[in-house]
Amino acid sequence: MDVQYEGEKNREFFNRKIEEYDATHATFMKTKNELCSYLPQDVTKILDLGVGTGLELIEIFKKYPDVDVTVIDISEKMLEKLKQRDFSDRIHIIQGNFFYLDFGDDYDAVISTSALHHFLLKDKLVLYKKIYQALKIGGVFLNADKIVNTDLEEEEAIEYYNLYAHEKPHIDRPLSIHHEEEILKEAGFQNINVFLVDKENYRLIRAYK
Ligand SMILES: C[S@@+](CC[C@H](N)C(=O)[O-])C[C@H]1O[C@@H](n2cnc3c(N)ncnc32)[C@H](O)[C@@H]1O
Repeated sequence: MDVQYEGEKNREFFNRKIEEYDATHATFMKTKNELCSYLPQDVTKILDLGVGTGLELIEIFKKYPDVDVTVIDISEKMLEKLKQRDFSDRIHIIQGNFFYLDFGDDYDAVISTSALHHFLLKDKLVLYKKIYQALKIGGVFLNADKIVNTDLEEEEAIEYYNLYAHEKPHIDRPLSIHHEEEILKEAGFQNINVFLVDKENYRLIRAYK
């Protein structure tokens, strides 16, 4: 199954990249920090998918020191680094593939940064349905990630992936804005907004249950 394969590939890739990860992603901190300002003021319970070393949580714990956060990631090395952060004793850490894990159903917010641009539309729809189920009524899904402008750009990325995936370990397959909105609606979400938060194609999607 594609998601299992992608999950394993991601695990190997991020385990290998751990030493340089935080420095490489320093250029994306604006987006990761900004996600915090889209959280509901009264947020108490958050699920973070693909938390990595926890860069997006730095700002969140500054603003909401008592918030209850559960995180999922497939890479044990990324999670080891997360465990070294000063807020690590305040999070519930789950190692595994988010396509196969049960999320529960009582979150105010499900968040994700830079983690969901490797999955095809059909698989992402399955994930978005799980995220929808994980939220309380009125809860919000915030995804800051690479999302391209057009379906053509999406197709080109998939074509490139199909040509080179066997020799390159990490090729992005971002969906278009139009497809993101379509599958969020199909999963049940409403009041969907897409914000350009930083570099071109790096966007924050906000969608409510
Ligand atoms: C680019 S990093 C983002 C980390 C962090 N959210 C950030 O913004 O710095 C993507 C993370 O998603 C995780 N990941 C990718 N696919 C996954 C899957 N199927 N299940 C769980 N974690 C996954 C990777 O292990 C990696 O730590």
